[in-house]
Amino acid sequence: MAWQHDCAKCDEPSIGLSGSFICMTARRVQPPTPAEVTNLLRAVIDPELGDNIVDLGMATGVTVSEDGLVTIGVKLTIKGCPLRVQIKNDVESRVTTHPGVSKVKIEWGEMDADERTAVMTRARWNAKENAPATQIPLNTRILAIASGKGGVGKSSVTVNLAAALANQGFTVGVLDADIWGFSVPRMLNMSDRLEAKLITGSEKPKMIPNERIVGKGVLKVVSTGMLVEDESTALMWRGLMLTKAVEQFLKDVHWGELDYLLIDMPPGTGDVQMGLARMLPRTDLIIVTTPAVSAQKVAIRAADMARRSFLRIAGVIENMSAFTCEHGTSYQLFGQGGGQNLANEIGAELLGQIPIESDVSHGSDNGEPVAISGAGFAAEVFRDIAKKIISQTVPGNEMAGCSARMLETVALALGEKPKK
Ligand SMILES: Nc1ncnc2c1ncn2[C@@H]1O[C@H](COP(=O)(O)OP(=O)(O)OP(=O)(O)O)[C@@H](O)[C@H]1O
Ligand SMILES: [Mg+2]
Repeated sequence: MAWQHDCAKCDEPSIGLSGSFICMTARRVQPPTPAEVTNLLRAVIDPELGDNIVDLGMATGVTVSEDGLVTIGVKLTIKGCPLRVQIKNDVESRVTTHPGVSKVKIEWGEMDADERTAVMTRARWNAKENAPATQIPLNTRILAIASGKGGVGKSSVTVNLAAALANQGFTVGVLDADIWGFSVPRMLNMSDRLEAKLITGSEKPKMIPNERIVGKGVLKVVSTGMLVEDESTALMWRGLMLTKAVEQFLKDVHWGELDYLLIDMPPGTGDVQMGLARMLPRTDLIIVTTPAVSAQKVAIRAADMARRSFLRIAGVIENMSAFTCEHGTSYQLFGQGGGQNLANEIGAELLGQIPIESDVSHGSDNGEPVAISGAGFAAEVFRDIAKKIISQTVPGNEMAGCSARMLETVALALGEKPKK
């Protein structure tokens, strides 16, 4: 029998079963400390200034109330800056990855001339100091494609989204983090050996990603499949720590300019996810699930892991949704509703539902992702999801005239060519 009584320690009502008492206060998740919130804010990058809002001095103060309300002061370089919405979304979604946060309130401010000068100095320092293109550029949007279990279509989603983004004119990196079970080289028909070159400014040679032009854009791809002779040789890599291999791909590859980096995660491992959270805390996860309820339950574990490593979830993709035959009849081969249920459960957006279509698997087998020029419904959904991803970041043309475009001024002041 359960009953309530007063907890001797904290005077809060407690629930007990047959004499064992659990204090309800103790069970509540503690709100974060202001220092923890500040740490989470370090993952919020001002894409134009190329640094996090804490180091840029844009986050001006954090207070946390006992009930988990977090109030953050954010100063923009100029009030009407179009980045405001993006920074707001980023701040809110980063901070709410902490389970003890009930609400986030942002108090907006505007920098004065001195503060703007300080930001300029910082941006100038960054522009000089950031070793050119030996790591993932700070303005690159990073999306890791993960799932709770194997075979749900992570690699298919990765290559198709990457191809759809490139087709729109973007430079898209693809990092195959499935070190032992890589499939990206085959799916993109890119299996040339990776070469290493000495790059100006670095002492050791860097790996150069393989490139493929897609539409108006370009794919830059690295995978262990481009380092070993065949898939069975990859087993030799078992001796290597997974995270170490991924770390090398992030540090020892000359990625150059990237608009997006898509990471194809290996199935069912937390190590790589934790490693990514440490190395690239601004990584967003896209969770892939099938419509089956069982898959959805497993996917929740992947989302849990994301929360524990404070990674943000950009959305859920349901793959292998209803198959429609040539007569137009739909078959829910793997059940239905898994994607939406998962999205509801973890408070994320369902980005799209990709049907089962033989074109998807044929495209992967032939190295021609269906999203590039496929006419079927699956191809359309991939392209729609890519558009959603693009719209989540401020389009370049809206930035014109915004004083946040300081890097250009900085580059000009340094006598360098401004970044595009
Ligand atoms: N929407 C789809 N329609 C038809 N076939 C699909 C679809 N999505 C994926 N497939 C096929 O299902 C198989 C598994 O997909 P994929 O390799 O992308 O999954 P994965 O999650 O990356 O697997 P692993 O966990 O082994 O890395 C592949 O043969 C792929 O071509
Ligand atoms: Mg895979």
